[in-house]
This record gives sequence, C-alpha cells and structure tokens, in this order.
Amino acid sequence: MKSIIAICGSRRNGSFNGALLDEAVTEIRTHNDVSVDLVAGDDISFPLYEEDLETAEGIPDAVTALHDRIAQCSSVLVATPEYNGSYPPLFKNAFDWVSRVDFATFKDRHIGIMTASPGGGGGARSAQQTAELFSGVKANVYLPTFSLPRAHEAFAQSPISGLSEWVGQYLDDIPNDK
Ligand SMILES: Cc1cc2nc3c(=O)[nH]c(=O)nc-3n(C[C@H](O)[C@H](O)[C@H](O)COP(=O)(O)O)c2cc1C
Repeated sequence: MKSIIAICGSRRNGSFNGALLDEAVTEIRTHNDVSVDLVAGDDISFPLYEEDLETAEGIPDAVTALHDRIAQCSSVLVATPEYNGSYPPLFKNAFDWVSRVDFATFKDRHIGIMTASPGGGGGARSAQQTAELFSGVKANVYLPTFSLPRAHEAFAQSPISGLSEWVGQYLDDIPNDK
C-alpha cells in the first residue's frame, strides 16, 4: 500500500493548481494499491512564521497536525503556483512551520511536484525551485516534475495531456509502506 498526501499551494478561488491537483487525485484514485489524502490551500494558511511568534505562542496545532499527516505518508504530492519564478509564500510558510515540528520531516520522504500557470512555462521555474527546496532537506524528489502551461485554456480539455502517464510513473516510483 502506498499513501499520498496531496497539498495545494494556492488558496485562490478557482486556483489552477487546485484544479490540477484534483485531476491528479482523481487519477490516483483509479489505482487500487494507493490511498490519497487531499490538503487544500486553506488548510496550510498559517500565520506568517517568525521566531518570536513561535517563542511566544508555540507551534499552532494545525501545523503539528499537518506534520503528523506528512510523517505518516509514503509520498507528498504538491501542486504550487509560480510567483516571480519561484514557489509562493503560502507554500514556503507552511514548509517552514512544518520544519519547526521536526527539521527532518522531509528527509528521505518521496516528493512529487506539479505546477500550473496561465503562462507558457507552466510554472516550471517554480517546480525547479520547489525540487531544490526539498532536495536541500534531503527529500527524495521524483523527477520529472509536471508543469501545465496555459492553464486557463488547458482545463477545457479533459483529460489533461500527459497527466495520466505522469501520475502512473510517479506512483511507480513511490516505495511501498513497510
Ligand atoms: C505575485 C505574483 C507573481 C507571479 N509570477 C508568475 C511567474 O513568475 N510565472 C508565471 O507563470 N505566473 C506568475 N504569476 C501568475 C500565476 O501563475 C497565476 O496567478 C496563477 O493563476 C496562480 O496559481 P493558482 O491559479 O493556482 O492560484 C504570478 C502571480 C502573482 C500574483
């Protein structure tokens, strides 16, 4: 059995990354030996991380809960926008908070990365930066990442071109739970 936590890095109404993640989760659910747990952008909307805030108030329960869900999964699948060539603050803030529960949360953990953007690059620079972020904490990043360009047009087509194949190869790469 493989267990996935699928995290959306946007809480925008009508988020393209949310839509892409939903499609990926639907595809994942067609596979028998996999469970998937979806985390919406609203569920990673934590206060801006500051060390003084942590010292004064501790780690929010919602952060600890997210950490615990991540710690139990065999892979984390993230779908995150590109802001100025990188991942957005919503995602990085959640990443930083989770690292305060345990700096080794992502060590050796299997990671899949998706991006969607109305632009022609599909957020590929964000995907690359996100891969580097996870690699920097010694996660096991699955490559290639998946980027969806012209997302405002792409959802008119169903299925999304290449998504099913990418999901299948991503799932094959996930180690089985012990
Ligand atoms: C501050 C900001 C910076 C952005 N920078 C980029 C960028 O570098 N590359 C890009 O493709 N899109 C960029 N965009 C456009 C986003 O890709 C677009 O808003 C997208 O819909 C966000 O993802 P979402 O739909 O999942 O919320 C930027 C948007 C904002 C608000």
